[in-house]
Amino acid sequence: MFLLSCKTGQKPSQIKSGDGLFQLFEEPVGRGTFYSDKEGVFAEKGMVASAHVAASKVGTEILKSGGNAADAAVATFFALAVVHPFAGNLGGGGFAVIRDSEGQKLALDFREKAPLKGHKDMYLDESRDVIKGLSRLGHLASGVPGSVAGMVELHEKLGSKSWKQLLTPAIELAENGVKLTSGQAGGMNRYKSTFQKINGAATVYYVKGDSLEFAEGEVFIQKDLAESLRRIRDSGAKGFYEGETANLLVAEMEKGGGIISHEDLETYDAVWRDAIAKKYKDYNIISMPPPSSGGVALVQLLRLVEPYPLKEWGWNSANTTQLMIEAERRVYADRAKWLGDVDFVKVPITELMSYPYLEERWASFKENKASDSREISGGAVPFYESDETTHLSVVDKEGMAVSITTTLNGAFGSKVVVDGAGFFMNNEMDDFSVKAGVPNMFGLIGNKANEIQPGKRMLSSMTPTIVEKDDKLFMVLGTPGGSTIITSVYQTLLNVIEHGMTMQQAVNARKFHHQWLPDKTFIEKDALDLEALQVLLNKGYTIESQTRTLGWMDCILVHPNGMLEGASDPRGENTSVGY
Ligand code: GLY
Repeated sequence: MFLLSCKTGQKPSQIKSGDGLFQLFEEPVGRGTFYSDKEGVFAEKGMVASAHVAASKVGTEILKSGGNAADAAVATFFALAVVHPFAGNLGGGGFAVIRDSEGQKLALDFREKAPLKGHKDMYLDESRDVIKGLSRLGHLASGVPGSVAGMVELHEKLGSKSWKQLLTPAIELAENGVKLTSGQAGGMNRYKSTFQKINGAATVYYVKGDSLEFAEGEVFIQKDLAESLRRIRDSGAKGFYEGETANLLVAEMEKGGGIISHEDLETYDAVWRDAIAKKYKDYNIISMPPPSSGGVALVQLLRLVEPYPLKEWGWNSANTTQLMIEAERRVYADRAKWLGDVDFVKVPITELMSYPYLEERWASFKENKASDSREISGGAVPFYESDETTHLSVVDKEGMAVSITTTLNGAFGSKVVVDGAGFFMNNEMDDFSVKAGVPNMFGLIGNKANEIQPGKRMLSSMTPTIVEKDDKLFMVLGTPGGSTIITSVYQTLLNVIEHGMTMQQAVNARKFHHQWLPDKTFIEKDALDLEALQVLLNKGYTIESQTRTLGWMDCILVHPNGMLEGASDPRGENTSVGY
């Protein structure tokens, strides 16, 4: 039942049913706090927030029919692979963070792996120079996909509905078609010539012939993808990693000079890891451990600002912003130096999040002056990922919560469509450091902890997160955005916890980002008012306002009266659906 909607910008007195709900944050005069006045969606029993309304509806229907949050997350995931091919996927990977109805915390790693024939110099020419674009576009750019193994694992451990029931809605969407949104149509039109260049005739339904373009509202049918989904429905992981789909995938690789083999597919495994679960004030932050940097970084960021009165200083005031930038600078330097796949490199996870370590990191902070990134860490270098990822958040009526971020890396991944199987392959290999110290395709550099090794998982910024307050479920959140994922999650969380915003306000609020190097703070237009901007410029901060937006968040907040608030980002076509 849709119970209540409240607009950002409404005064608390205007909320129709305020009892037991968080009050709305009142926007200070003259400050452009919010990107939009999109409304939160309120419901009593369950909520699904994702990048596409059709996928969120699929998940909510599963909840309504008695499925739990894990069931709904799996069904939503496969629906996104159909309706949001930008980032939803069978050919990619991701992470799931789960809090079950008993409060047990779990973290599932289904990140892609480097193929067994991969090696650290695979993107270098004879002079050891990086071959431009090779880790980004085409067959050699793909890691071994983890998504199907991840969903099978999630369902086996926590699901309650039959596997077949969870796959059926996605198969129907692929078979019967879905109406294209303007974002989906525009995305495929934009990449038309690249799809053709990489795939030739095999682009099937992702390219329209001649000069025709996709239009909003047009019904988009994907028969090959429906067949691939049917094989997964009928045979689980074997329906993807063995048999017809595996044959098609390996044939596609062989045709285009890729190196993913049958052995890579057959030996791929999704792994349960110990979730990051650390305190920030009264809150328990549950997030993803390595090979994502997200959880460690988020806890570090929160703990570095914990001693300061952010609430008193106010949202995006000069003091608050300075503190958060300085925390981000130090945390991203740590990320570059220490983080990688724990199955291959030693990562001091506990130490990085410990208060004594963070205190030491903070010793160089000066209130009157911007720190210099060159002095924060010697020789460590930053990472950067592209932003074509997607997130989904689910809460069910028993209080189970699932937070999944998944990606192909770039928009439509490597742009390679597996001929006959109808899905895009990832270009996740570019999340490795292809050569230490050399800028990657995004103009940034990586280091040894994240160099390519056969079977290793590439470092990620994905930050699927769940927050408890007083040991009860409080919030589920996450977003795409490459290296900006971590800072978007950070700000959204603080917007609620410290600045008293509702979930939707926190998502709508304008954001900024600093990642150590380049030594600049990127801000969404109007994220800082003139006064704060002036103070920060005077202290030596370089601030760059950009037209690009930050985050496509999909979040759920549990209000004190138990009401769920779904908040999906107005920057995209994201939609929350509750009941
Ligand atoms: N490919 C984006 C990430 O994993 O962070």
